[in-house]
Amino acid sequence: MDHRNATLWKCPVLISSDLVLAENNEKEFVLTELYRASPDGPMLSFPRGKYNGAFLDSRPHRELFRRRRDLMGHALVMANVIQDSNSTKEHLLKEDRLELQNDAAVKICWIAARHAFEMLNATRRHIFSYRWGYKVDGEWSGMIQDIKSNRADLATNCVLYSERLDVVTFTDMVAPLRMRFVFRQPPLAYVSNIFSLPFSSNVWVAIAVCTAASTLTLCLTSHWETKVEKNPTQLDGSISDALLLTLSAVAQQGCFVEPKRAPGRILEWFLFTALMALYAAYSANIVVLLQAPSNSIKSLSQLAASKITLAANDVDYSRFVLSPYKDPTHVHIYRRIMPEGEKPNFYHIHEGVEKIRQGLFAYHSIVEPVYRRIEETFLEQEKCDLTEVDFVNGFDAFTPVKKDSPYLEMLRVV
Ligand SMILES: *[C@@H]1O[C@H](CO)[C@@H](O)[C@H](O)[C@H]1NC(C)=O
Repeated sequence: MDHRNATLWKCPVLISSDLVLAENNEKEFVLTELYRASPDGPMLSFPRGKYNGAFLDSRPHRELFRRRRDLMGHALVMANVIQDSNSTKEHLLKEDRLELQNDAAVKICWIAARHAFEMLNATRRHIFSYRWGYKVDGEWSGMIQDIKSNRADLATNCVLYSERLDVVTFTDMVAPLRMRFVFRQPPLAYVSNIFSLPFSSNVWVAIAVCTAASTLTLCLTSHWETKVEKNPTQLDGSISDALLLTLSAVAQQGCFVEPKRAPGRILEWFLFTALMALYAAYSANIVVLLQAPSNSIKSLSQLAASKITLAANDVDYSRFVLSPYKDPTHVHIYRRIMPEGEKPNFYHIHEGVEKIRQGLFAYHSIVEPVYRRIEETFLEQEKCDLTEVDFVNGFDAFTPVKKDSPYLEMLRVV
């Protein structure tokens, strides 16, 4: 031991470092790897190989992870973000599967982290944060600040924002997490004139042309009839009587003047039958259209232009994720949720989902708890017109690990 440099043995050579000590024992160089599993743990040494003109590698595995995965009980701290209810703290640690609707992502991440810690033989520690972490005036808050100030090594999945990359590295997506506006499409009757929709415009033109043609032909046949006989309930051969009869057919009404002879009657019969068929088709279509959703809102700009109420989940993140945008569409939507000088449109998830059900209401939230509540409260047909629109345009959520953490590689692999 005498030749071993005491200073070197005190160095904080942590698990991510690749330090090899080469000792010359006259015949050859003996190579030894040195590292510590935790900053205050003992220095561990493992043979790396020998060198005497040629290098002989004696590592059992080439991957750093497989050689160093035993952290020997070093304590790793997980930061858990509690947003929905403080009772999550209790259920999370007991893992009793109660109140699953609260902080679902946190619970999934906790279970995954538990297995990761077991694989690394690390001691499991936890802290609770009450905010995901946003940079306001250069200062971080919440979970990201906890990681930055070394209170935690890793944390709950969070959405990837580029400025968070200054503090953390994102590893794996343990629990998918999406933030969206969820709403039911406004009914078709609300956004367009459903009276003209049952037929295409070509059909409307064809009906007008046929009506005009039958007016003319009725006029001709009745003109001929008046030469054969005269009768008080007969068409008098003028264009106005012919028009009266065709318009009453269009309106599905009877008319007291009518043709008396076969040509006019055949014409009248066909006119009434054709218009009756059209009338039946029209009514059937209107009934369908009255209940149809519109599909009119598919993008954020359409949502901004629509007249439906915009609101957000009444939790901490809603106060941060909606604001940092500069373009007019985002600002407009933000202002509708948080009108200046008025109470912001924040609703508890139960109230928000009920308002989605009633319609003309878009609710911004992490979608998983919203859908869970929808499943509990919606009828099947009320789910058909549900739509999502993305506001934050973010990436998925990934598990953050402190950027310069020596355990980054280990955590990334497990
Ligand atoms: C939970 O408790 C913390 C600290 O006591 C508090 O800051 C936070 O607002 C609480 N969260 C909820 C959802 O009640």
